[in-house]
Amino acid sequence: MNVGVVRETTEGERRVALVPKVVSALETKGVEVVVESGAGLGALIPDALYVEAGATLGDPWRADVVVKVAPPTDAEIARLRAGQTLIGFLNPRNQENQIPALKAAGVQAFAVEAIPRISRAQAMDALSSQANVSGYKSVLLAAEKATRFFPMLTTAAGTVKPATVLVLGVGVAGLQALATAKRLGGRTTGYDVRPEVAEQVRSVGGQWLDLGIDAAGEGGYARELTAEERVAQQQALEDAIKGFDVVITTALVPGRPAPRLVTAAAVEGMKPGSVVVDLAGETGGNCELTEPGRTVVRHDVTITSPLNLPADMPEHSSELYAKNIQNLLELMLVRSDAGEASFAPDFSDEILAASCVTREEG
Ligand code: NAI
Repeated sequence: MNVGVVRETTEGERRVALVPKVVSALETKGVEVVVESGAGLGALIPDALYVEAGATLGDPWRADVVVKVAPPTDAEIARLRAGQTLIGFLNPRNQENQIPALKAAGVQAFAVEAIPRISRAQAMDALSSQANVSGYKSVLLAAEKATRFFPMLTTAAGTVKPATVLVLGVGVAGLQALATAKRLGGRTTGYDVRPEVAEQVRSVGGQWLDLGIDAAGEGGYARELTAEERVAQQQALEDAIKGFDVVITTALVPGRPAPRLVTAAAVEGMKPGSVVVDLAGETGGNCELTEPGRTVVRHDVTITSPLNLPADMPEHSSELYAKNIQNLLELMLVRSDAGEASFAPDFSDEILAASCVTREEG
């Protein structure tokens, strides 16, 4: 059985699905790896390192299992044939995903976003590994755009107060953002509609902002707020946001547009020079003034909404993602006594049943 590692073609995508360390681990398990020449270049991994790890250079699109990072383009789907398997981010909840095309092509596809958030699946959870990168990087971005320091400074020229940082939506990205902002010396506060998050916010040295709204939904996710709750939340946040130098937003509700947490009026109420980093741009943004993928200045506040922060840190993003893919692949392998690996996903396993979005038989 062989696995193909493709060179990503989506603009700005610098990650690669497998790194050399994972290639050697798979090779020792009897899996052959074929790497497209240049696949690792965005992550600064030359072909030679893959070859050293045991891979061959060739056409990855002919492999039994093709592994990717970004969702496939139409041209990429055209390179797949019936009976092959594709693993990667496939945007299963986005209406405009490529899943019908993959199904029509007879490709068996696994979407890493659909891996259930259960303990046994943590090592395969690519949403979490990449959200960690986004959370970390969002703080660095905020620090870069800010006109003020993050840490408190006592200098001969005077004392500088620490920056106040508010993180709205404390899932994996939000928690990492709080921890990173704290390490940079900021004074941090977290807010979420799932009350159980309060303890996690405090565990990374943050204060908990309690607005009295409980919207815990299914599977650990939040539910969408009612219209009344939404208005109450926006008004309460409008008041709260005024006091912060930096607001980082990460709030998402699966399959729904991003909740609007920061109104235009809230931005207007912020001090000039403040920064909003909106990580929810892909689903419309948490801030009313967000322009997904762009940085704009409104009312002297910088609002930035990067769409693929993990791609800006391709080395560690790829390393973590590759480990997730290795763990997922290993769950699908059966090894013969002779040490040969064959691909035999067991669909009674809830991880595979949930993440498989198209099956071979169509
Ligand atoms: P996410 O990216 O779907 O959402 C980010 C955060 O936004 C969530 O904390 C959510 O509660 C919050 N949010 C949604 N609507 C909001 C609103 N109107 N106002 C304020 N906040 C709002 O979340 P993520 O990071 O994917 O985590 C989802 C859940 O999965 C969490 O409970 C997390 O602890 C859990 N999880 C479990 C894992 C496991 O056990 N394997 C691994 C990773 C996450």
